[in-house]
Amino acid sequence: MAKIKTIGILTSGGDAPGMNAAIRAVTRAGICNGYQIKGIYRGYDGLINGEIKPFTTENVSGIIMQGGTILKSARSKDFVTEEGRAKAFDTLQREEIDALVIVGGNGSLTGAMKFACQYDICCIGLPGTIDNDLYGTDTTIGYDTTLNTIVECVDRIRDTAQSHERIFFVEVMGRDAGFLAQNAAIASGAEAAIIPEDSTDVDQLAQFMERGIRKSKRSCIVIVSESPKCGAIYYADRVKKEFPGYDVRVSILGHLQRGGRPSAHDRILASRTGAGAIEAIMQGQRNVMVGIRNNEVVYVPLSEAIRSDKPFDRKLIKVLDELSI
Ligand code: F6P
Repeated sequence: MAKIKTIGILTSGGDAPGMNAAIRAVTRAGICNGYQIKGIYRGYDGLINGEIKPFTTENVSGIIMQGGTILKSARSKDFVTEEGRAKAFDTLQREEIDALVIVGGNGSLTGAMKFACQYDICCIGLPGTIDNDLYGTDTTIGYDTTLNTIVECVDRIRDTAQSHERIFFVEVMGRDAGFLAQNAAIASGAEAAIIPEDSTDVDQLAQFMERGIRKSKRSCIVIVSESPKCGAIYYADRVKKEFPGYDVRVSILGHLQRGGRPSAHDRILASRTGAGAIEAIMQGQRNVMVGIRNNEVVYVPLSEAIRSDKPFDRKLIKVLDELSI
């Protein structure tokens, strides 16, 4: 493979706080080590359409503290097709980009893996998603900030829940993963969490209603992981039917969870993995995601990073159960 001179960077999928810190880190570490950096706008769509601009260190100054992504993001329908990826490859050749850094979640890194299988291009992934569902890294960029945002919201909901003695079902994001819901429940002192990793969700609710909330507590908070079939509204309706004595409300936090200034943890994670992406390129690594495990930067093959079975520590379920009595 020819020597890498120019590196393109893009952000893809749902934006996550800390993506800007990652863009900054890749740009600055890249320039420091003699590479040319090009910013690619609007994710893979921008790669297909050639929305690209050379980046200097100034392009990324004053962004480490900003949420969202200055490069914009998209969930590209075209990049899913072979023709779309062929167009993207043409753009790379035209722009003389030899390696690509992709900041995104599961879908975005799956796209990167397919691209790297189809063409001779070095793709390095950075774990950018609030869902924390990428395998091989302890946390993902954006997860910690979102967790803190949820906890702040739940603290506020608690005030009104207690004042009116109500049961609140608070729905949080996470797609198919319950990391946000379970840990937000522990951190906010919620009474329960309903998560996809615990398959007995229907029983969970019944058990819970028959225990803590039942006699002693008149107000409580249940954090529910989003789900197309049985989100917070579903559980609230069931409780209203089965336990008509309770005053029940639903709060769906929605996209406010994705915005805001990144936490120090996410800025550091993004900075370390962003610099790690350049290090990976210098070492001749290809088609890996840069993560952090046990405080060490690690390179995880893209095929492994996108596995759908990131271990969920079931001890967290017990901790919440014990502490919510
Ligand atoms: O993957 C990040 C995420 O925020 C998920 O938690 C959520 O299910 C999804 O994106 C929402 O996507 P959109 O912003 O396209 O509605």
